[in-house]
Amino acid sequence: MRILLLGSGGREHAFAWKISQSPLCKSLFIAPGNAGTKEFGQHFSFGVTDFEAIRACCIEHAIDMVVVGPEEPLVKGLVEYLRAEPLLKSLLIIGPGQQGAALEGSKAFAKAFMQRHGIPTASYREFTKENYQEGLAYLQAHPLPIVLKADGLAAGKGVLICNTHQEAILGFEEMIQSSKFGEAGKKVVVEEFLQGIEISVFALTDGTHYVLLPEAKDYKRIGEGDTGLNTGGMGAVSPVPFVDTILWEKIKTRVVEPTIMGLQKDGIPYCGFIFIGFMIVKGEPFVIEYNCRMGDPETEVVMPRLQSDLLKLLTAAANGELNNYTIKTDPRTACTVVAVSGGYPEDYKKGFPIQGLDQLSNAAMVFHMGTQQKGGQIITNGGRVFTVTAFGNSITEAAAAARTIQTAIQFEGKYYRRDIGFEFK
Ligand code: AMP
Ligand code: GLY
Repeated sequence: MRILLLGSGGREHAFAWKISQSPLCKSLFIAPGNAGTKEFGQHFSFGVTDFEAIRACCIEHAIDMVVVGPEEPLVKGLVEYLRAEPLLKSLLIIGPGQQGAALEGSKAFAKAFMQRHGIPTASYREFTKENYQEGLAYLQAHPLPIVLKADGLAAGKGVLICNTHQEAILGFEEMIQSSKFGEAGKKVVVEEFLQGIEISVFALTDGTHYVLLPEAKDYKRIGEGDTGLNTGGMGAVSPVPFVDTILWEKIKTRVVEPTIMGLQKDGIPYCGFIFIGFMIVKGEPFVIEYNCRMGDPETEVVMPRLQSDLLKLLTAAANGELNNYTIKTDPRTACTVVAVSGGYPEDYKKGFPIQGLDQLSNAAMVFHMGTQQKGGQIITNGGRVFTVTAFGNSITEAAAAARTIQTAIQFEGKYYRRDIGFEFK
């Protein structure tokens, strides 16, 4: 098969690494990719929302399957755009259409979907300019803390957890009246705060059947001990020790199955990944969010643990044949530790040379996130720069192995959390 993979993060490096191991993979093309994905196939420089370039590339290079890494092109309608091209009738696409992607693209849509299909989630109300005054009164009477969510895609910054009513009202005002998050914030979801432990669960679905990939836990805060600002994710572990068969069964029957059934009932076709962010409250699963893609850095622990052929699985999904599949998983623990640029998630500099990458053994799982090849040198090109994944018989072992490899790779201003997996040690 000839595959076009879209994206440029650690998730896409892990996908490229895994897809290229499949005997079904004849040629892999990546756009725009990063310095780490270079070894797996030809690169194109067009961006993930350059629909015309993607369409032309699929035709010119006789692509059989497009794998869409990030959410933005899905939310903007890439699938519909490619489906409208008569020359691409047999193209397989991993990623949902616009309606399915709205599970991530609109918090209000996702909440209404969960309510309609009886999927456990925090109680909520939605507000716009039209019922702004009512919103203010609702906030005044709401118990603390209060969770505010800008409706649309806001690059992970659209959620405010407010510890005072004053803070909530200010945030609400900024979202609706001052358009702090642009169009995304003109509708606001106000939600009950759930106290618990977060985990990430990933389903691959063909719209009717599904397989579940190994679960993971990511570490979103910049500082050790889960302190400081939110980031895209500073590390992840899989499996998550407290996820036992009882909890897994609840996750499946109360959330995953009603989600797939709900898509069918609503007439929403869906082929691709559904990433469900859970808050586990006293052993009970509640959905915090849906994403229409895999997580980053969760993919960098999930793909190494997946022993099945990913390309076979994706092909089965695209052909509506996932009912014939069960997946095989490595029982060992995987831990990934992300290295970021100094200053991230606030302002940071790019362009620093990265040393030590070529001295690593082939077995080291280093996934590039924000890197770029410049001449003979790999340089930093983003906030999250690369992540190191290692296996162990426990989280302690896997995390220690990942940290050891981390110390061998350097760039100016590098920072990483030394405590990924800390609560399970
Ligand atoms: P989201 O963008 O929806 O994933 O939200 C970002 C983060 O905010 C989540 O990872 C949670 O840590 C937190 N969060 C979101 N919703 C809630 C909630 N209802 N209760 C507690 N924490 C929440
Ligand atoms: N690591 C969380 C995400 O990918 O959204």
